[in-house]
Amino acid sequence: MSNGRSFYITTPIYYPSDLPHIGHGYTSVAVDALARWHRQAGDDTWMLTGTDEHGQKMLRAAAANGVTPQEWVDRLVQESWFPLLETLDVANDDFIRTTQPRHEERVQQFVQALYDRGYIYAGEYEALYCVGCEEFKPEAEIVDGTGPFEGLKVCAIHSKPLELLQEKNYFFKLSEFQDRLLELYRDEPDFVRPESARNEVISFVRSGLKDLSISRSAFDWGIRVPWDDTHVIYVWVDALLNYATAVGYGTDPEQFARRWPAYHVVGKDILRFHAVIWPAMLMAAGLDVPRGVFAHGWLLVGGEKMSKSKLTGIAPQEITDVFGSDAYRFYFLSAIAFGQDGSFSWEDLSARYQAELANGFGNLASRTVAMIERYFDGVVPPSAETTEADERIQRTVADAAEAADAAMERFRPDEAITAIWTIVDALNGYITENEPWALAKDDGRRARLGTVLYTAAEGLRALAVLLSPIMPAATEKLWVALGADALGRLVDQPLREAGTWGGLRPGGSVNGLAPLFPRVDQS
Ligand code: MSP
Repeated sequence: MSNGRSFYITTPIYYPSDLPHIGHGYTSVAVDALARWHRQAGDDTWMLTGTDEHGQKMLRAAAANGVTPQEWVDRLVQESWFPLLETLDVANDDFIRTTQPRHEERVQQFVQALYDRGYIYAGEYEALYCVGCEEFKPEAEIVDGTGPFEGLKVCAIHSKPLELLQEKNYFFKLSEFQDRLLELYRDEPDFVRPESARNEVISFVRSGLKDLSISRSAFDWGIRVPWDDTHVIYVWVDALLNYATAVGYGTDPEQFARRWPAYHVVGKDILRFHAVIWPAMLMAAGLDVPRGVFAHGWLLVGGEKMSKSKLTGIAPQEITDVFGSDAYRFYFLSAIAFGQDGSFSWEDLSARYQAELANGFGNLASRTVAMIERYFDGVVPPSAETTEADERIQRTVADAAEAADAAMERFRPDEAITAIWTIVDALNGYITENEPWALAKDDGRRARLGTVLYTAAEGLRALAVLLSPIMPAATEKLWVALGADALGRLVDQPLREAGTWGGLRPGGSVNGLAPLFPRVDQS
């Protein structure tokens, strides 16, 4: 059912040494919802995620745990990172690990190509390095330490001392790409989104680019520089290349042509790597730059960026164990404007779960199915003559479906959910106003009762389709309860036609629906 339009979308590849927290989970569910949306709309979709396994951070963590770096990352990926995908119901098409041969070999090939094209040279380097960021820090992110780090220079993000590194390095001529990058941002205004991220990137590039150190010789946990095996490739160069190596760069030209270029969704902390260094590397290699980079905001807990190192970390499973994976996905994607920072609190999650999911959507579904069971023996009634109120629902559904698709195209799942929720609200109001329980007492109004319940059930059909990328499990249950599986599988319902009225066929049977969002006990 592909329409031939390619949609390749990626998450950042995560450092496995950190245990997954809700910040990582946020990026992953956003990318998964966007991918599911496009897949279900018939776009030729590919979703990639994975782990970033080289570098000093990993080497030190392994040593501290008394195992080899390979053993260390193997264990963490198996025990924590694969399970995260299940916990959050993520349907990725591939998972790349930077220690896989398919990646390592192609990274060497890419770096060799840049060397052969004259974009890499050897030089001396001395600068302050943050192992947490795996980055030589720019002036603006170096601050004076306090407390135990008094008198030392520390990283503004990690608040940990920086290390002065002095070594012979290979450099990538990033400075040569300043003009071409500025042209790119000018010609393709959507290359970096949102607007605030775009402005930040433009002013950073305008202020001048320095060449980038792309190798390290002080340790060996990395991919060897092909022409000098005393050096390993800088972990960020290695990591960024995952987006290309995973779709056949250097091995499978057909696959690469079909998928590349990608859309990258990243946290704003790693925007510059993706919107400056990465496109410059691709330009140097003569490859297409990404389709776009979308930077989302940070999850804040108690007002601070959530991170494991600052002890504010919350594991996604703590949330899904209580509320389920659908509620996790819905909450983070609806409560935070995608692109801005957002605060997480258990109180807010719990309140939204109760109001929007249990009382709003879940209750609408339960009572509609229950009334069809009670008044029509579980058979979806036909719609008779329609009134202005029924037609208003039909228009709401059509408008919401269109607005949601437009919002997903803009990478705004939050706005898509707001649009879809107009259907939930309208249907709840419609049922209250039309009082099917009162109509049911009057035999003369049976045709009207049928119209009201058909309208509600057909609205739910549209809701199931539109919400399935956001809440795959609950919508699947609803689909079956509506008897809509006669129309085929939910995931095969064409998303861009979800708003066309009349999909649900009268005469089908509904099946009892257990509460979609049961009451939770949070003791
Ligand atoms: N390994 C690099 C990325 C390489 S991509 C070529 C890295 N990894 S990371 O494990 O630190 O996680 C990166 C991503 O996790 C962030 O860009 C962001 O998407 C997500 N988040 C981590 N903490 C977060 C918050 N507190 N809030 C929101 N997202 C956060 O950097």
